[in-house]
Amino acid sequence: MDPSATREQWGSSTSFILATIGSAAGLGNIWRFSYVAGENGGAAFLLAYVLCVLLLGVPLVLAEFSVGRCARGDVVAAYAGGTSKSSWAAAGWLAVVAAFVLLSYYAVVAGWAYKYFVSYLFGTMSHLGRGDYGTYFGDFIARSFDAVLWQFLVVASTVGVVVAGVKRGIEAMNKVLMPMLAAILLLLAGYSLSLKGGAAGLAFLFDPDWSALMRPSVYLAALGQAFFSLGIGAGALLTYGSYASLKTRLGPTVLVVAGGDTLFAIVAGIVIFPAVFAFGLDPAQGPTLAFVTLPEVFRLMPGGSLFAIAFFLLLSLAALTSAVSLLEVPAAVLIRRLNWSRNKSTIIIGAAVFAAGIPSALGFGVLSGVRPFDLGILEAIDHFASKLLLPAGGFLVAIFVGWVWTKEQAFDAAAVRTAWVGRTWRFLLRYVAPWLILLTLAGLILP
Ligand code: PHE
Repeated sequence: MDPSATREQWGSSTSFILATIGSAAGLGNIWRFSYVAGENGGAAFLLAYVLCVLLLGVPLVLAEFSVGRCARGDVVAAYAGGTSKSSWAAAGWLAVVAAFVLLSYYAVVAGWAYKYFVSYLFGTMSHLGRGDYGTYFGDFIARSFDAVLWQFLVVASTVGVVVAGVKRGIEAMNKVLMPMLAAILLLLAGYSLSLKGGAAGLAFLFDPDWSALMRPSVYLAALGQAFFSLGIGAGALLTYGSYASLKTRLGPTVLVVAGGDTLFAIVAGIVIFPAVFAFGLDPAQGPTLAFVTLPEVFRLMPGGSLFAIAFFLLLSLAALTSAVSLLEVPAAVLIRRLNWSRNKSTIIIGAAVFAAGIPSALGFGVLSGVRPFDLGILEAIDHFASKLLLPAGGFLVAIFVGWVWTKEQAFDAAAVRTAWVGRTWRFLLRYVAPWLILLTLAGLILP
């Protein structure tokens, strides 16, 4: 029997949209966006970012959805079956590796968010004073047991959702969590905007320093952020697209997802920057912005501990909905290839992800002496995954849909209805995306 006939499907187009925004909106929109924007001039970065989403993000998300829905199969089957050249299966395996590696350390950072949520909830951080947060965070991530415990809890909760299946697990979770996350985010933004002195934060985010736009590094950072935040190149969009019904209109869905993800990041910026500026702190702190600088802000803010509870709940749950989409990629491949049950596939792959993430978790403590490429372990793996694997995955999708598929195949798979939209899409996939991606990859080698 054709396995695609019994394959699960989203209950509705709305569920598909919510799940995909759940995948896209995660640590990338809050933790990563805020520190990368903070380091790259704020508003100028945001402008470059929006440009990357439009030129590269939107066409690539549509391409991944199209390959997935057309095949109604996991990422390896989709590439292998989408053309007569079976060597394309390798592109599928690359995406599986990308999802696996990404999830291994994503769970570590998400674990920090879980831990902060629980600590604020039980008030165990209330004794900390000015300047204590850096040491607190440093001590926490250096303790082997703690680092691994919280990483484990993230992987376990992710497995718990994926085991329950596409409809009963992933769809049900996103239907509840996504509206809740939107509500928390808006409440936090409203409060942050009401802080005296927050206007400087808004200016930082929205009033560009044009000279920053002359720096190529700003564009490279924006491109990398667009890949990470939309979740391009790891097969997650493709796999979620494979559960979409033929009735779902992919084009409008892509616009809603890309718009929703970008808005999520911007509103997260409205939560973070006014608060940082109102209390005279520096937004260019790098990856510790959310875990050291913000707690400093929460300490000074009236009602700060409630704000902190809501903030870390938001961060934890947004991370969970993304982690789920990453785990679904290899799980779906195992279910089909080895004919294993969803339970068995998910638990085995979850255990492997947990084991693979342990070095990242321990890299701030017992393994801090191990410094590949002169970086910490987590940072090195993050560079490898988000700067190399994701762009490579995006490159292959662009080539596959733009060059391997004929125009008719591509338009058919995406159900393009308007000629100029289709032409623009294909043009961007054929001539713009591959070059921009190659340029980004070249940027890695150049000093
Ligand atoms: N987009 C997610 C985030 O912003 C991360 C992710 C990457 C999810 C790749 C799926 C695929 O946090």
